[in-house]
Amino acid sequence: VFSAVVSGCFGQNETFPTWFLFGAATAAYQIEGGWYAGDKGESMWDRLLHSNDITLDSSNADVACDSYHLWRRDIEVAKELGLNMYRFSISWPRILPSGFPNQVSEDGKKYYSNLIDGLLEKGIQPVVTMYHWDLPQSLQDLGGWANPLIATWFGDYARVLFTLFGDRVKYWITLNEPLAICDGGYNKMAAPFLDDMKIGGYLCNKHVLLAHAAAYRVYEKEFQSLYYGKLSMANVFFWFKPEKTTDDEATKLAIQMWEGRYAHPIYSESGGWPPELEKILAENSKKEGYPYPRLPPFTPEEIEFVKGTYDFYALNHYTTRLVRKVDPEKAGSWPYYGCKEIGVDFVNDPTWKTAVIDWFAIYPEGLREQLHWINKTYGVDQVMITENGYPDLNDDLFDVQRMTYIKTMLQQVLLAINDGIHVMGYTVWSMMDNFEWVTGYKTKYGLYAVDFLSPNLTRTPRESARFYSSVTKGRRIPK
Ligand code: BG6
Repeated sequence: VFSAVVSGCFGQNETFPTWFLFGAATAAYQIEGGWYAGDKGESMWDRLLHSNDITLDSSNADVACDSYHLWRRDIEVAKELGLNMYRFSISWPRILPSGFPNQVSEDGKKYYSNLIDGLLEKGIQPVVTMYHWDLPQSLQDLGGWANPLIATWFGDYARVLFTLFGDRVKYWITLNEPLAICDGGYNKMAAPFLDDMKIGGYLCNKHVLLAHAAAYRVYEKEFQSLYYGKLSMANVFFWFKPEKTTDDEATKLAIQMWEGRYAHPIYSESGGWPPELEKILAENSKKEGYPYPRLPPFTPEEIEFVKGTYDFYALNHYTTRLVRKVDPEKAGSWPYYGCKEIGVDFVNDPTWKTAVIDWFAIYPEGLREQLHWINKTYGVDQVMITENGYPDLNDDLFDVQRMTYIKTMLQQVLLAINDGIHVMGYTVWSMMDNFEWVTGYKTKYGLYAVDFLSPNLTRTPRESARFYSSVTKGRRIPK
């Protein structure tokens, strides 16, 4: 109360509120290894990388950070960082080796139970992602995210997780980044590595939303009155700004294409697909002679089923791009499919610095602008930043750029809180270097470096880790 009064009377509050969650994130396939330990089933990433050489360094995540064995060290790392929240994901095939709840793995149960208990003993809230891209291969063999039955399969899997861990886990993220699941998975950027965006990818769009909603409804009906948890789906979005004022309309459309397609059905008052985008995409499929609209229509019951399935908005934010309106024929097709659909290209503002990856522009104000957009567009009153991080290609422990990136992002978070937006927490991607999907072990995001050549995969704090722990301990950003 005192700090609120002070901030009200004398300007900006410089400390993070006492309820604010400082976190860091990882994901099962990226850190666990133990791909065949116990009775774990095969995931679609296991299958993809055992049979194809597609990563930059020809690697896979059979061992990764070996967190399957080194989870106690991971908890220590979280503690050293002063985190009060750790976001990790559960591997669906580790819990349900066949993909279905006919057999729940004792080994998987024990592994995640130990991890959750270990975190709680240290006063760290587990924020649990139920799906971070490692679909059981058995389900991929049945059509994966293009099969409408996946909503039921995911709901059943969710029930198992809530039953096993719901007494201890208060924050659940149903799916991580549906954009990456569909627009990546059906555009040869991620497993199942298909080139089928126009049909499979858009079917996936609808099914991820139904699957998320199925899990949310299971919790709401069967667990909410017991456990009082909070659920959301984590969306990843570039923040978009127009290059010139003549690009304003194209920018609004780009926001609908990449943010609204996954957010409007859940957060808007009307539910369903963003209408303008739905119309344009339907016209595109008509022009190509395909008899169905790109975005499979929702029934009125499905609209109601999906609408409102959130307790907060979970946002993965990394960068901001400028949008340039172009002739759809001439538009590029990267980083995500869709530029050609709506006739846009992305460019960098020449005044912005970039990370090693040239599309990764550094414009921290974009985070605050995006938080305002979410708040204004959907009237959501609570947002959790579930990922934000800085990529690099070198192993350097003195990672000044990552430190600066995190610092400037945290400044924007604090400004947003002072603006009156309820930002519940902030999560660094990643707590430690790990297997970064198609770039293998080449890209580093870690607060902690991992020596992948050492027998015990030593975790060592970088400068950014020291900086972040000073923030978490003082609840303020050092000058
Ligand atoms: C996030 C994902 O979008 O980006 C993480 O949730 C991923 O799993 C991170 O590792 C970094 O992505 P990339 O493609 O640079 O490795």
